[in-house]
Amino acid sequence: MAKEQKDKTEPKKKARAVPMPTFDAPVTQGVVDRNRSRSVKSLVQSGIARDRSREELFVKWADRVRIEATLAELSAAPKKKILSQANALLGNGQPAIACSTIYEDREGHPILAYYATRTVDRERSSPRVLTLEEQYSAEGRTQESIDELVRGGQHHTSYDGIPPALCEEYRTQVQALCAGTPPKLSKTEKRHPDDDKVVHTVQGEALPGGKYTAYMDDKGKVVEAAGVHHLVHCWKATGQKKLSVSKCVRDTSHMYLMLPNYYSSTTRLAAMLGEKLKSLWPEFYDLYERSFKAGVTIKEDPGPFLARAIVYKVQIGTHVDKSDAGPSVCFPCGDWVSGGELVVPQLGAKFAYKSGDIVILYAAKLYHQVAPWRCAPLDLSSKVTPGRIGNVFFSPANSVKELKDKEEGWAMRTGLGILPENAIYEPSKVIGDGPPRKKRKVEGESAATDS
Ligand SMILES: [Fe+2]
Repeated sequence: MAKEQKDKTEPKKKARAVPMPTFDAPVTQGVVDRNRSRSVKSLVQSGIARDRSREELFVKWADRVRIEATLAELSAAPKKKILSQANALLGNGQPAIACSTIYEDREGHPILAYYATRTVDRERSSPRVLTLEEQYSAEGRTQESIDELVRGGQHHTSYDGIPPALCEEYRTQVQALCAGTPPKLSKTEKRHPDDDKVVHTVQGEALPGGKYTAYMDDKGKVVEAAGVHHLVHCWKATGQKKLSVSKCVRDTSHMYLMLPNYYSSTTRLAAMLGEKLKSLWPEFYDLYERSFKAGVTIKEDPGPFLARAIVYKVQIGTHVDKSDAGPSVCFPCGDWVSGGELVVPQLGAKFAYKSGDIVILYAAKLYHQVAPWRCAPLDLSSKVTPGRIGNVFFSPANSVKELKDKEEGWAMRTGLGILPENAIYEPSKVIGDGPPRKKRKVEGESAATDS
């Protein structure tokens, strides 16, 4: 049998690894104790309290964009038309929206929230309400216009996204996870219907299969693994009828052992994203939280999302995430020199979507795509390697449907429903007296009981 021809353009196996970032300071989840007297746990709690009050300001003051359609009407538009709108947005040269915004449908329901820069105008007594046509043109909507307002002295700005120190630390944790288990692009695990369109280009050069990212260092081109990790406590993977832990979680011992640290070192971020969901979509927060409490399989994850996707330095085409139960929380982190805007064609919107900006949207109904981005060169003084990492915190619809009415701890207690009730050891359970004990006569003694 003829030997299979090796693809000479494929990087060597060693080059596909993701380097372990440098950890030169303790993990503090983006909070600093200037007096050096508090525990990390208490610092993180105070960070969470601060994030909560920042969220209240966002909900109170962010611009509203009112849409003359319902979400159902928007999602009924023909796919061909939506894809051509996406291409038009990607190529029209229009400066992107850089201002925090809540999009509401005709009935006043939020359908997308963008957390970025918010201009603070002390003379305003209520948030601005804009039409879809004004989403780019109103004052302070693009970065250029925001800068102009600030130069004029009437406004200052506030940032509603992820605080930079927290975002940087999250990015470092993600790279560490990917250093332990390199991400892959699996053909069988097609969460995105257009996964086959994944391409990645570096300095104009397409890399084979889109499976790698690359950047320049002082010695030339460095190639690093790229792909997607789906970290899911339990879901029904494509073609499966029963709930299971996602393949990425159970596939390698490194991932299995590193995930508890990843979850516990990112509790502040999870709390922040959960709080954002809760303030605009409280009914989905309750649904996700209930499902999470029943379906969690790694106890260090604080919830309320059953799943996290890490889109590690790859490019994905225009798509919807059909399996998401409701609003999903997305944010990018990392560094790239151009591109990376998020387009949502049904809203005619292009968001700057810088590192740390957050978008919450109905990802199953609203198509979305990140504009092609170019990797920054390697910074030798940085703890991490360059490139753009997309992150999605979500709950799969099929998991939520099965878990929402199950009791807390169900997945771990029953092994995802496989363990029969009477096989579960519950030392605190009162069993009762049971059947009456038989008395048996022993010669020479009056009576004895079984012991
Ligand atoms: Fe997506």
